[in-house]
Amino acid sequence: MANYDALGSQTRNSPYGSGDPYYNESSGYITPARPAKKAVSKWVKFGIPVAVVIIAGAVLGGVLGSRSSKNASASSSAAASAAATSAISVKNDIGRFATATDSQYLVPIYPMTTNTAAFTTPTFVSTTNTNLGWPQDPFQPSNPSPTQVRPDRPRLIAPTYMWDALPNLIKNDPYLSGWNATIFSNATQYLALPPVAYFLDGGNGILDPAREIKQRVKAFSYAYRLSNDTKWLDRTYVELQNAAGNLTGGWGPDNSTKWNPTHFLDTAELTAAYAIAYDWLYNEWTPTQRSSIMTTMITYGLNNGVIAYSNSDPAAYGWWKTNTEGNWNCVCNNGLTMGALAILGDDTTGIAAQLLGLTVPNALQNCAFAPSSDGTWSETANYWYFGTTGHAEMASSLLTATGSTYDLLSVNSEFQLTGQYHMYVSGPGSLFNYGDCGPNKYSTTANAMLFYGQQYDMPQYQLFQRDQFDAAEPWSMFWYNPAVTGAFWDGLALDHFFDNSTDQWGSMRSSWTDENALYVAVKAGTLQGHQTHNDLDCGDFVVDALGVRWFGELGSGDYNSIGYFSNDLQDSQRWLYYRKMTEGQNTILVNQQNQNVAAAPTVRHDTSATVQGSSTVMNVPGDSSAYFVADLSSAYFNVTSFSRGVHLINGRKQVLIQDEITASAPIMWRAHTNATIVVSSDGFTATLTIGSETTIVQLLNPPSGAAFTTMNPVRFATDPTPPQPDQPNDGVYVLVISLPAGSYTLEVLISPQWPGMSSSSYTTPASVPLSQWSLTSPS
Ligand SMILES: *[C@@H]1O[C@H](CO)[C@@H](O)[C@H](O)[C@H]1NC(C)=O
Ligand SMILES: *[C@@H]1O[C@H](CO)[C@@H](O)[C@H](O)[C@H]1NC(C)=O
Ligand SMILES: *[C@@H]1O[C@H](CO)[C@@H](O)[C@H](O)[C@H]1NC(C)=O
Ligand SMILES: *[C@@H]1O[C@H](CO)[C@@H](O)[C@H](O)[C@H]1NC(C)=O
Ligand SMILES: *[C@@H]1O[C@H](CO)[C@@H](O)[C@H](O)[C@H]1NC(C)=O
Ligand SMILES: *[C@@H]1O[C@H](CO)[C@@H](O)[C@H](O)[C@H]1NC(C)=O
Ligand SMILES: *[C@@H]1O[C@H](CO)[C@@H](O)[C@H](O)[C@H]1NC(C)=O
Ligand SMILES: *[C@@H]1O[C@H](CO)[C@@H](O)[C@H](O)[C@H]1NC(C)=O
Repeated sequence: MANYDALGSQTRNSPYGSGDPYYNESSGYITPARPAKKAVSKWVKFGIPVAVVIIAGAVLGGVLGSRSSKNASASSSAAASAAATSAISVKNDIGRFATATDSQYLVPIYPMTTNTAAFTTPTFVSTTNTNLGWPQDPFQPSNPSPTQVRPDRPRLIAPTYMWDALPNLIKNDPYLSGWNATIFSNATQYLALPPVAYFLDGGNGILDPAREIKQRVKAFSYAYRLSNDTKWLDRTYVELQNAAGNLTGGWGPDNSTKWNPTHFLDTAELTAAYAIAYDWLYNEWTPTQRSSIMTTMITYGLNNGVIAYSNSDPAAYGWWKTNTEGNWNCVCNNGLTMGALAILGDDTTGIAAQLLGLTVPNALQNCAFAPSSDGTWSETANYWYFGTTGHAEMASSLLTATGSTYDLLSVNSEFQLTGQYHMYVSGPGSLFNYGDCGPNKYSTTANAMLFYGQQYDMPQYQLFQRDQFDAAEPWSMFWYNPAVTGAFWDGLALDHFFDNSTDQWGSMRSSWTDENALYVAVKAGTLQGHQTHNDLDCGDFVVDALGVRWFGELGSGDYNSIGYFSNDLQDSQRWLYYRKMTEGQNTILVNQQNQNVAAAPTVRHDTSATVQGSSTVMNVPGDSSAYFVADLSSAYFNVTSFSRGVHLINGRKQVLIQDEITASAPIMWRAHTNATIVVSSDGFTATLTIGSETTIVQLLNPPSGAAFTTMNPVRFATDPTPPQPDQPNDGVYVLVISLPAGSYTLEVLISPQWPGMSSSSYTTPASVPLSQWSLTSPS
C-alpha cells in the first residue's frame, strides 16, 4: 500500500528530482550554491546548540500588528522598496533554508544555525520589483460573476501575466528555480512512460489512474509553456486521447461511464485534468483538437455532473452534494468547476454555465465547512491533503478566471485554521497519522498551504510548505509568493491544542526544525463523524524522538476488505479489523473489547507557551512544559472512570503517560512500536531500540501484578473473525501491561537516550494525581 508513509522508502534520492541543484548523485546533498558575491556567508554555523533569543510573548497577532504599523510608518515608498529588496536578498543569499528532505520521514533538514537577519517574523514584503514579486493581476472586474471569465487564456490558476513574470522570478528565487528544475525532470520521467493504464481497483474505482493523468497533464502543460517544445504538447494530447478511450485497446467502458461516475472523485479528477490541458494549451490546439477535448470532457465529465446534481439522481452519482465532513465535496465540485470554467464561451450546450450555478453555492455550503472549528480535518490528517487540494484549486481557479472566490475562503471564518492544523499534525516522524491514510496522492499535495498563505495573509504557511518534499509541482510556481521573508518557526509556539469535540487532540514538541526533536501527539475526540475513516482510538498517541517514531500508527487496512467502510456503528464490520479496532491503537483496552462509538471525552491541557526564535537550534528552557488530560470514561464499557494524561517533563526531554482507571473487567495498556524491545527481569523497564537509537520506558510505582510484556500486533484468538484477513504489521511489536479488573494508576515514563545527556540528568517524576497536574507538577 503506497501512502504518505510509504514515501519513507524513497529516502536517499533527492526528493527535488534529479535536476535538483543542491543534490549530488554520488555524495548526497551539497551546500546550496550561492552567488559569487556572497563569499562571506550569512550563515553562522554552530556545531553545538547555542542560546537563542526567545521572543517572549511574540504571539502572531502582536507580531503581525507591529509589522503593519512599521510598514505604515515607512518614511517613503523608495525607502520601503529598498527595505523590501534587502529583506528578500537576505533570504535569497541563503538559498533554500532546508538543505534536504532526505530524513527517514522526508521531513526537511535544517542546518543548526542562528540567523537573526533571515530567520525573522514571517512577512510578505511589498515590492513592485517584478524580479522579486508578482505583479498585480490586470483583470479586476468590478462586479465578478462565475460565468464572466477573463478575456485572455489561461484562465485557470495561472493567467498569462503570471507566465510572463515567471522566468524572471525563477531566476531570482531559489525555491522557484529548484521546483522548476524538478517539474521538468519529473515531466521527463513521465514522457518516457506509456500512457496511464486503465485500472479499476474495486471500491477505489479508477482514482489512482485519474490522479496520475492529472499529475502528468499538469507537468507536461507546464513544461510546454516554459519551453515551447512541442514534444510536451504532443504527449499531453496522447494522455488525453488515452483517457478518452481513443488509443488502441480503449480505456474503460465504451459508454458514458468511462470516467466511473459512481465513484465521482474519478470523474472529477479527470475533468480537472482535461480542464488544465484545454485551458493552459488553448492557443496551441487545432480547432479540431480543441473540440475533441471539449466533447470528451462534456460526455464523460460534465454530463455526469448534471446527473449528479439532478433532483432525483437515479444513478446516485452525487451523494457527496450534502456531504460536509469529507474531501469528496471539495474534490467533486472542484473538478466540475475547473471543467466548466475552461470551456465557458466555447460550450454551445450551456452545460458549463449550468454547472457553475450549482457547484459554487454547493461548495460554499459544504466544502468550505469541512474542517472543524479548530481547523482539524475531521476526516483524518491524511485526507486533509485531498480536501484542501480540491478547495484550493477551486478557489484559485474561480479567482483567476472570474476575479472572485465568491466567499469560498471566507464563508467559514475558521477555514484558515486548517493550515495551522496541518503544521501541528506534522511531526519529525511524519504526520500524526491516526485513522485511514487515503489512496495514493499523485496530483494531491500539501501545496494548498502556499495558496492559503497568500490568501489568508499567513506567510508562515508558505514558509512551512516550501521546504517540504512535495512542494515541487506546477501549482507551487503560481501559489508561492517569492516576496515572502522570515522563518515559519520564528515566534511559533511549540504546542497547540485542538478542542473541537470531534477531534480533541494535543500537539507538543521540543523544536520545529530539528529532525531529532521530541514530538508527542495525543487524541481523544468522538468516534463517529469522521466519514468512517477513523479508528476506535480515544487516548491514542505517537512519540517521535532522536529522528525516529517510537510509538506509531498502523495506518489503513485494505480499503477493498468486506465491510471496511460499512458504517461507524458499534457493530460495524470495520471494527473487526485489527488496524481499526481498539486493540490496534496505542491506548488502554478493557475486556479485550472495542471502545464505545458513543464516546464523548472531555479534555483539559496547558502549555508554557514556549515559542521558537530566530534560530533552528531550539534551546528549551528547563521549565518549559505542556500537558494534555482526557477523561475517556465514556469511551469504554466495564469502566467506572478512566483518565489519561500526557506530560512533557524535564525541559521536554522526557514524557510521562499516566492512566487512572477503575474497571470491572481486565485492562491492558498497549502501544505499538517498530523498536526491538528488551524487558528487564523485574518487568518494570523496557529498553526500546531502533537502529542505533535507544529509548527507555519505565513503569513507575508499579501496582501489584503490573509488568511490561510484549505481544505481536495481531488479534486475540478469541476476537470475532473479520470477513477477510488482517494485513500483516511487519516489524511491529506491542508493549503491553496486563492487569485484572480493579483500580489502578499506571505511570509510564518515556526517556529517549539523548546524545550527551548523563543518566543523572534524567528525572523520575513524583507521583501526582491527574487532578493535580499543572505545568510544574509533575516535572
Ligand atoms: C519527481 O522526481 C523525483 C526524483 O527525481 C521523485 O523523488 C519525486 O517523487 C517526483 N515527483 C513526482 C510528483 O513524481
Ligand atoms: C526551468 O527548468 C528547465 C529545465 O531544467 C530549464 O531548461 C529552464 O531554463 C528553466 N526555466 C527558467 C526560467 O529558468
Ligand atoms: C515561447 O514562445 C513565446 C511566444 O512566442 C515566447 O514569448 C517565449 O519567449 C518562448 N519561450 C521560450 C523559452 O522559448
Ligand atoms: C457501460 O458499459 C459497461 C461495461 O462495458 C456496462 O457494464 C454498463 O452497464 C454500461 N453502462 C451504461 C450506462 O450503458
Ligand atoms: C475520441 O474519439 C471520439 C470519437 O471519435 C471523439 O468524439 C472525441 O472527441 C475524441 N476525444 C479526444 C480527446 O480525442
Ligand atoms: C466543531 O466544528 C464544527 C464544524 O465547524 C462546528 O459545527 C461545531 O460547532 C464545533 N463544535 C465545537 C464543540 O466547537
Ligand atoms: C513504523 O515505521 C513506519 C515507517 O517509518 C511508520 O510509518 C510507522 O508509523 C511505524 N510504526 C509504528 C508502530 O511505530
Ligand atoms: C462488560 O460490558 C459488556 C457490555 O456492556 C457486558 O456485556 C459485560 O457483561 C461486561 N463485563 C464485565 C466483566 O463486567
